[in-house]
Amino acid sequence: MPILTVLNNKGGVAKTTTAINIASRLAGEGKRVLLIDLDSQANLTMSTVGQDGEAHVGHWLNGEKPLSEVVRPYVPNLSVIPSSKALDMYSKLIGSEEDYQFKLKDRIDGDNLTKLYDIIVIDNAPSLTTLAYCSLVAATHVLIPSAPEYYSFAGIDNIMQSVANVKKRYNRQLEVLGIFFTKYHTSYRKKVANDVVEAARETFGDLVLTSTIRVNASLEEAQMMRQPVYEYAPDSNGAADYSKLVEEIKTRL
Ligand SMILES: Nc1ncnc2c1ncn2[C@@H]1O[C@H](COP(=O)(O)OP(=O)(O)O)[C@@H](O)[C@H]1O
Ligand SMILES: [Mg+2]
Repeated sequence: MPILTVLNNKGGVAKTTTAINIASRLAGEGKRVLLIDLDSQANLTMSTVGQDGEAHVGHWLNGEKPLSEVVRPYVPNLSVIPSSKALDMYSKLIGSEEDYQFKLKDRIDGDNLTKLYDIIVIDNAPSLTTLAYCSLVAATHVLIPSAPEYYSFAGIDNIMQSVANVKKRYNRQLEVLGIFFTKYHTSYRKKVANDVVEAARETFGDLVLTSTIRVNASLEEAQMMRQPVYEYAPDSNGAADYSKLVEEIKTRL
């Protein structure tokens, strides 16, 4: 069962947008999908089920509340384990434990989530710290959204190193599913953006996906309305681009 972690230590590169849209697309196709929000900014939570502050992923990770009290339904076939500002405190607590790296993996195994769902998608904070490490240890695949700019390559290198490190020490099955470019301008910046994709291919080879996600306001609006873009604007470029991305990802899973 694929466990996909969406990772980039930069903010604003569409990690959350990607997690929501991949998950809701797959759910729309009939897959049973779980989204886990591991970012204390809780953007994914706010853009899907909203935040009620009652129960969050920190409670679940720390064994204070069972899954049933934490997980919330979003749309058919898609549930969310929400986050909260309080996750920062839990992250510190968890990070001070021995073998903290296995915290998420142990919960996923302990609650038999690989039987309950067909795919799990994890959204991360813009950092490579405690909980992001936990997600790499629990995941089968890493998906890396990136800004289509040269300076972002150094960041991707960092992620690759972390992935290699986790793969060697904790999780042999971990693979990079792909790198892809988001907020891709099709007008005046087209040339530069294309050059960046070409350069990325020279550096990262086949790990660079052919799908790119164009700048599209519907993606942002859908999140504000707490609706999957497939419901809010099914004919938008955003819906089309994420559908293509999902098709490409499926060939690699
Ligand atoms: N392709 C896109 N076109 C326009 N806006 C986008 C696109 N992808 C993401 N956004 C918006 O950009 C902002 C940052 O995206 P987000 O997914 O929250 O990034 P991250 O999780 O990496 O910090 C959000 O307001 C989001 O709605
Ligand atoms: Mg985010």
